[in-house]
Amino acid sequence: MFTQLEMAPADPILGLEEAFKKDPNPRKVNLGVGVYKDESGSTPIFEAVKKAEQIILAQEKTKNYLPINGSPEYAKAVQNLVLGADTPILSAGRATTVHTPGGTGGLRVAADFLKKVKPDAKVWISSPTWPNHPNIFRTAGLAVETYPYYDSAANRLGFETMLNAIQQIPNGDVLLLHGSCHNPTGSDPTPAQWAQIAEVVTARKLLPLIDFAYQGLGEGLRQDAAGVEILAAAAPELLIASSFSKNFGLYNERVGALTLVAENTTAASAALSHLKICVRVNYSNPPAHGANIVTTILQTPELQADWQAEVATMCQRIQQMRRLFVQGLAAEGVQRDFSFIESQHGMFSYTGLNKEQVKTLREQYSIYMVETGGRINVAGMTPANIPVISKAIAAVCNPA
Ligand SMILES: Cc1ncc(COP(=O)(O)O)c(C=O)c1O
Repeated sequence: MFTQLEMAPADPILGLEEAFKKDPNPRKVNLGVGVYKDESGSTPIFEAVKKAEQIILAQEKTKNYLPINGSPEYAKAVQNLVLGADTPILSAGRATTVHTPGGTGGLRVAADFLKKVKPDAKVWISSPTWPNHPNIFRTAGLAVETYPYYDSAANRLGFETMLNAIQQIPNGDVLLLHGSCHNPTGSDPTPAQWAQIAEVVTARKLLPLIDFAYQGLGEGLRQDAAGVEILAAAAPELLIASSFSKNFGLYNERVGALTLVAENTTAASAALSHLKICVRVNYSNPPAHGANIVTTILQTPELQADWQAEVATMCQRIQQMRRLFVQGLAAEGVQRDFSFIESQHGMFSYTGLNKEQVKTLREQYSIYMVETGGRINVAGMTPANIPVISKAIAAVCNPA
């Protein structure tokens, strides 16, 4: 059976990573891969995580299975973080949370759940989006459609076009939105635009599914939740897939969650019973360690303060790199206006560099970025490599 198999297509971003590793140039720069890097180019373990792990190691008494949906303490901590502790949704018991292996696990549980309870609903994803989105929903058997999102000519969110398009989505379909730090473009709706999206969502009776993989990396933990809060206040039902890979640096612990908001407690409990079946047939119950870390940090005021400060440092570093990059390009005499990079959020930016320019940067300057949209990971930049990157971009943008 297996001798008949042809190779499946390789992941384009991981292919870029391979090429980067093989490149012997000592001045090579990797702006492709989607992990946070500090100024020294490493992806460190948070101090708060290390401290939480010490507490867990000293206190844990069993490795017994967790409940199918994870621990109630974790669910509560996630809900407070995502929806805001004071929201009436929580006091009314309208939310339920399933602990999942990463944000990807949360999206896949959402997909299986939707296929089970709303098999004919289509899932509408932004164009462009994280390349795993369509695959996750199609693999679960759901139909996927796209709505326009980015205005490449203006280098910003094409909000009017987006809003017009989502107004045409049939009642009852699922609208997938990025909670903050849109991957790959870095362009997010403003709070006022979120309010307009919420109006359409409620008028058209759409089910919002928010992919919340970068809370805290755009403008701050609560600021980045503005869209979630606005939609949650307006829409009777919604789903939120959280990832703690980036904002706790827990990439390989696989920790995330799917939070479902229903009209009332009874509906939330019924939905949870279906979510649990989706988990049970998939991976049975979640891995404990990452969620123990998140719960310990969020439940311990001192650790929570440490963690918040660490997330703020990451966020500020990304914002600073955006500023320095725009300044660096101007200093190298790049004529094209790249100032839009400063108003984008999170780790990613669509630079608007074309395929040829991206290829030249890789082949002649050992600067690696994703071909589509010239997407860069801003966190791959440092004050030391920005002049190198800027010079190379100047050379490809202003050819002699
Ligand atoms: C938009 C988006 N959603 C979800 C994920 C998945 O996160 P996780 O690694 O927690 O599965 C990512 C990770 O890159 C992402 O960029």
